[in-house]
Amino acid sequence: MKKKYFLNLIFTFLISLILLSCEENTTPVVEEENDVLSGGATTTDFVGSLAFSQPAPNLSQENLDKHIIGDALFEAAFVKAPAIINPGLGPLFNNSSCVNCHIADGRGRPPFGAEQLETMLFRISIPGSDEHNGPNPVPGFGRQLQTRSILGYDTEGSVTISNEIINGTYPDGTTYSLLKPNYNITGRIGSGFLYSPRVAPFVFGVGLLEAITEQDILALADENDLNGDGVSGKPNYVWNVQTQSFELGRFGWKANTPNLIQQLAAAYVNDMGVTSPYFPTENCADGTQCDTTSDDPEIDQHTLDMVEVYLQTLAVPSRRNYNDADVKRGKEIFKQVGCNSCHTTQFTTGTHKSIPELSNQKIHPYTDLLLHDMGDELADGRPDFDANGNEWRTPPLWGIGLVSIVNGHTNFMHDGRARNLEEAILWHFGEGENSREKFMNLSKSDRESLIKFLNSL
Ligand code: HEC
Ligand code: HEC
Repeated sequence: MKKKYFLNLIFTFLISLILLSCEENTTPVVEEENDVLSGGATTTDFVGSLAFSQPAPNLSQENLDKHIIGDALFEAAFVKAPAIINPGLGPLFNNSSCVNCHIADGRGRPPFGAEQLETMLFRISIPGSDEHNGPNPVPGFGRQLQTRSILGYDTEGSVTISNEIINGTYPDGTTYSLLKPNYNITGRIGSGFLYSPRVAPFVFGVGLLEAITEQDILALADENDLNGDGVSGKPNYVWNVQTQSFELGRFGWKANTPNLIQQLAAAYVNDMGVTSPYFPTENCADGTQCDTTSDDPEIDQHTLDMVEVYLQTLAVPSRRNYNDADVKRGKEIFKQVGCNSCHTTQFTTGTHKSIPELSNQKIHPYTDLLLHDMGDELADGRPDFDANGNEWRTPPLWGIGLVSIVNGHTNFMHDGRARNLEEAILWHFGEGENSREKFMNLSKSDRESLIKFLNSL
């Protein structure tokens, strides 16, 4: 009896040892493998200039068919009515198709040199808020500056940008320079209004962001910074035009839109002057500048629905070079300097209401979808629902290393002022300043490792 008991003890001891050592050795390895598939089963390993334009590989035939229809609509260029194909552009607009701003489903940038605004737009308002706590429209001009118009109409205004150079030095003596943009808006709109410059963000992965449960996002909010880490995180509550109620904002640089259908229907009417059942009247409060008698709505509900499915079903690019030693080091530094306190590395999506392929996916978007005060340096001074002039939504970082290949530039932040990833980090003030300081105090090679990690996303 005694001997058996003793053997049992030894056996239990040995099993515990094995279990313990397994736990120590396998956990990090498992994590490493898992965060390669940034969009779970919707991830693509396509890396070329069409890396953001792939259909999710896990789509049913039915959803793939819808995706292909939506793709054509996303690329469709509108023209002035009357026309046989895609009439309805304007009278006021910013660009003529979705893809003209979200080039290859990717990002816009500020104009270089003498270029006009192409892939960037300005939201405008006057102080105060509208009846739904949203931005107060500029009388006669609305909430967006349309910098183009069809023949016979005047644009609302035009923008020129001049950059101020800010020089700085890292504690190790390395120098850097940043460009701070100044905007000069002239034209019919006059002066004395608030404005917010915004470049077009990439549009893949947005269905997954829609599928993150509200509960999971709110669990990260810490509006009054009760945990004292200097990072708060605040949800924006915005007006849903369809349900006529306030909902958690998820899309736009200030989380100023509740869902994709509203985001894209608003883009049709505000960016292109194309009316739909969702927004049936042309966006021009000034009657003399607007023909409101044309055959509105100019597109139907089916078009909106197909473009929605298209956005929801774009694949997220897989990580690359994740086994590189510098990239691995950079991944550690990302956490060490607190980037992940806003750029949340992992969520598991809930049940998506219409696309089952998006449900229950373990994803790595690197955003908390919350607002953060990023300091006066980045402020636009223009409130957008609950977001004040200093607050911005943490943008997702998945795929960010592929922007240079897809879009041929590396301009980041809401107004594209950062010319590369390093400058993007150096523009983090306010709640981001702590991370910025820690970044600046890293050795040059650690700073480079962090950038390499970002480029592997
Ligand atoms: C004039 C350029 C322009 C055009 C045209 C345009 N967009 Fe956008 N898009 C933007 C900008 C700028 C934003 C950010 C808006 C904000 O912060 O309020 C944006 C945001 C978005 C987002 C939210 C992405 C995110 O992560 O928050 C989606 C989705 C989107 N656009 C889809 C579309 C679709 C679909 C169309 C065509 C119907 C379209 N866009 C047309 C410039 C444009
Ligand atoms: C306090 C929250 C917070 C922390 C901490 C933080 N970020 Fe950000 N990050 C943001 C917000 C908000 C923006 C958008 C600001 C804007 O557009 O003006 C942003 C923008 C970025 C961008 C540009 C993304 C784009 O789409 O243009 C990069 C890259 C980035 N952050 C990387 C980092 C890294 C690396 C760290 C750690 C050194 C870090 N961030 C720490 C909140 C944070």
